[in-house]
Amino acid sequence: KTRVLTGITTTGTPHLGNYVGAIKPAIEASQDPNVQSFYFLADYHALIKCQDPKRVQESRLEIAATWLALGLDTDNAIFYRQSDIAEIPELMWMLSCVCAKGLMNRAHAYKAAVAENEEAGDQDPDKGITMGLFGYPVLMAADILMFNANKVPVGRDQIQHIEMARDIAGRFNHLFKGQYFVQPEAVVDEKGEVLKGLDGRKMSKSYNNTIPLFSSEKKLQKLVRKIKTNSLEPGEPKDPDTCTLFQIFSAFASNEEAAALREQYVAGIGWGDAKNEVFDYLNAHLSAPRERYNALMEDPAHIEAVLQKGAERAREEAAITMDRLRSAVGLGRFV
Ligand code: TYM
Repeated sequence: KTRVLTGITTTGTPHLGNYVGAIKPAIEASQDPNVQSFYFLADYHALIKCQDPKRVQESRLEIAATWLALGLDTDNAIFYRQSDIAEIPELMWMLSCVCAKGLMNRAHAYKAAVAENEEAGDQDPDKGITMGLFGYPVLMAADILMFNANKVPVGRDQIQHIEMARDIAGRFNHLFKGQYFVQPEAVVDEKGEVLKGLDGRKMSKSYNNTIPLFSSEKKLQKLVRKIKTNSLEPGEPKDPDTCTLFQIFSAFASNEEAAALREQYVAGIGWGDAKNEVFDYLNAHLSAPRERYNALMEDPAHIEAVLQKGAERAREEAAITMDRLRSAVGLGRFV
């Protein structure tokens, strides 16, 4: 079976970008009988950026409830918390010992942090950068390689990390002379250019420009109205291809529905009307899962039980893999 794996960092409330980039393609993939899927809450990753335990805890519950509300079948998919699998940081260490530091120097997140320091005129370009941030891609490689995932559905911003996982896998196989790991591939949704947020930049927790997937109806309407548009008046033709509102709509809508809105843009629909249409559409599609989400958030015991079951299945796999890897590097049992 093809193995599909993906995770979401538990530092915030899941937003439309997470849905379009990762959750939607992942749930679709998990419905294929030829697929074994592994989906997890990347809560060790959360510690890199967040030292607010309450926020991390809350976010884990929200993200778990989101997957379940959207219909993930957890009898089929293996659904777990990264931090329940102690073998993952163990594998991260093994991989760290074969991963070139120079490879990590090229990681976007690390480079962006350095660039920020340089812009701010700081003497020390590494100021405030932890080993956690620096080694982040190695932890992600451990997530992926532990389960020998073939395909990893992600948004564009994560492609580099998957390439790094391939690199590290190849290096390990070469050094220890065996096919220990398969080479994972990123799967990017055809519509999955990075989804833009309220201000037109990438929708991201760090930019504070997100539309949470399960905002209340009222909040959703307010946020859709806040999406930045240009100053063209009703009656003037508008360009859907440079428009955040249109991008968000078409990430959810069918091709036919997107084509219909495109025509209205060309015919000069006013921004108020366009926003109403987009809100109505999103709301109609999100209201049933939103109700399930709200109910799940009231039942953490159920979510805990689902995740415990997932962790058990994941650990079973992880234990077998680690046995093999320990022997490969010389850390196997004597007898
Ligand atoms: P994270 O938590 O930042 O995002 C989770 C997923 O959502 C996608 N995404 C987007 N897609 C389209 N448009 C956007 N605006 C947008 N914002 C976020 C991300 O690309 C991602 O697929 N390091 C990962 C989590 C992780 C992981 C893994 C993923 C840890 N281990 C192993 C895959 C495999 C992250 O921080 O994603």
